[in-house]
Amino acid sequence: MADAHRAARPVIVDCDPGHDDVFALWLAAAHPGLELLAVTTVGGNVPLAHTTHNARVALTVAGVAGVPVAAGAAGPIARELQTAEWIHGENGLGGPELPEPTVPLDPRSATELMADTLRAAAEPVTIVATGPITNVAVLLRDRPDAAARIREIVWMGGSTGRGNVTPYAEFNAWVDPEALAAVVASGIPFTMVGLNVTHTALVTPAVRARLASADTATAVFGGELLEFFCRTNDEVFGLPDGPLHDPVAVAAVAEPDVVARVRTRLDVELAGAETSGATCVDLDGVLGREPNAWVATGLDVDRFWDSIAAAIARLR
Ligand code: BDR
Ligand code: CA
Repeated sequence: MADAHRAARPVIVDCDPGHDDVFALWLAAAHPGLELLAVTTVGGNVPLAHTTHNARVALTVAGVAGVPVAAGAAGPIARELQTAEWIHGENGLGGPELPEPTVPLDPRSATELMADTLRAAAEPVTIVATGPITNVAVLLRDRPDAAARIREIVWMGGSTGRGNVTPYAEFNAWVDPEALAAVVASGIPFTMVGLNVTHTALVTPAVRARLASADTATAVFGGELLEFFCRTNDEVFGLPDGPLHDPVAVAAVAEPDVVARVRTRLDVELAGAETSGATCVDLDGVLGREPNAWVATGLDVDRFWDSIAAAIARLR
């Protein structure tokens, strides 16, 4: 659990819900070590209209009110959007019936909401990104003054090894590698939480039973999400215990030592004929380049699920 003496850390979650993004939002909203200031959405798993609607649904189901939600980029900064209905379903949240959200859509763009939130915050804010990192790249390009107000950026994406959408590229990196390269080059402290770690956050039958035992509206909705997500992960990847990627990045902020991380060199492949979107992580320092990122290398899996279960139990 978070150090009781540590003040809650202010965060913005930038996401593309997506099943695992929903759990990331719930963890950010309910963990006592975090203060969720704003949510921004991006086209990714499914088009922007769906990801934005889904973020509002996720907060509505969990009874999270008063956190502004704004829509951002419909697609990557230099490419066509590629989506992942094969994992998340046509609407991005296959499984449960989606209620009409009562959480309103903020009229500002994601960039405006991020900039306003950063300016108004009493201290530098952490951005947790759980989709293609387009919105953050647009913020840094269009509002360079915002950079000084960002404490760090923690992103779920990439991999130190194999990919999940091509042999070497992870989905979020592959969708918008130019955005990722720009964000890493910004010099703002950056942590990559990639597949090499999130593939240990497996939704086993025991995990599903534990999360369902909360018997709340959030737990029921989450259980229906996980049933669908595990089925598609089984069909597509042969992973019946679907890895719950995105909340690992939130956990890495809420309880920093829940992940092990190393300071290393991270480059992203922009032009490779077969490797576009691959994250090249120089763990052995063979390139001799200046380290430019923190890269997660391990997860305390039991503690991670403890924090997810506690968050769900705290929500409606
Ligand atoms: C990432 O891609 C998306 O499908 C998930 O939401 C997660 O952010 C995993 O590769
Ligand atoms: Ca995501």
